[in-house]
Amino acid sequence: MIVETHGDDLVIKAPAKVNLHLEILGKRPDGYHELETLFLSVSLYDTLIFKQQPAEVSVRVRGSSLDGGRDNLVTRAIHLVRQEAGISHGISVELTKEIPAAAGLAGGSSDAAATLAGLNQWWNLGWSPERLAALGAQLGSDIPFFFHTPTAVARGRGEQVEPCRCKTPLDFVIVSPEEGLSTADVYRRVVVPPKPVSIEPIRSALEQGDRREVGKLLFNRLEEASVPLCPAVAKIKHRVGQDGIGQLMSGSGSSVFVLMDSPQAAERLGKQLIAERLGRIYVVQSSS
Ligand code: C5P
Repeated sequence: MIVETHGDDLVIKAPAKVNLHLEILGKRPDGYHELETLFLSVSLYDTLIFKQQPAEVSVRVRGSSLDGGRDNLVTRAIHLVRQEAGISHGISVELTKEIPAAAGLAGGSSDAAATLAGLNQWWNLGWSPERLAALGAQLGSDIPFFFHTPTAVARGRGEQVEPCRCKTPLDFVIVSPEEGLSTADVYRRVVVPPKPVSIEPIRSALEQGDRREVGKLLFNRLEEASVPLCPAVAKIKHRVGQDGIGQLMSGSGSSVFVLMDSPQAAERLGKQLIAERLGRIYVVQSSS
């Protein structure tokens, strides 16, 4: 995330993520799935502006039909921090959405992580990234990763994060169809594989900066569960199947990303896909 001060305000840009690898290792008694995934944050951002406000908490959302009510992850993160710190200070957060919701890009999770980091700074709490990540895990499985950007391996239900390196910037075109997908619905359909696909080859290719090898090794176990729920995923994958150096659905969908071999190639494909009205198109790079 990118943190700046503008006058009296604190401004945080919260990045989206893609999963370059996602394998299911088992189903847990609590209903969650054990997974192993390789996260990468990308340069598509929501923006949060924190402003002084005496006693109330208010969250205003722009650019989305989502509201800032009690279920919003930003609102929940604010209440969690106030409870944990034992304070009742007010705060106003203005959230401008660019990351589509229910799209497998973890926009809501990134907003929540940005809120935890922002309030830690705003209220001088002095909490470590580890403590913030542990708090984030109470709100959602993808949140701890955002304290370890740009790239990390996550295990458990997603909350055990081990940072890794990406030696070269990666370029992507992301296609998000109008139809979103519910993470819970997708996980409900998942079949645990008898023999999991290993994360090690793609992690090692990423660490060596071998983008072609990364493209060849892209893998997401959730694709087979998502496609019957959202035919647009199959349609997009079919359309971009020959483009770039690899294509994959991100997270539990419904976005599909294409890994490109240069920023210029990404720009070109992005323009073509916009003209074809395939969905919302984002031309992005790996980023913090
Ligand atoms: O943790 P989060 O609230 O993002 O998860 C949303 C839903 O996705 C969970 O309620 C669960 O059904 C499913 N899930 C899962 N295994 C995971 C992560 C999420 O089954 N590792």
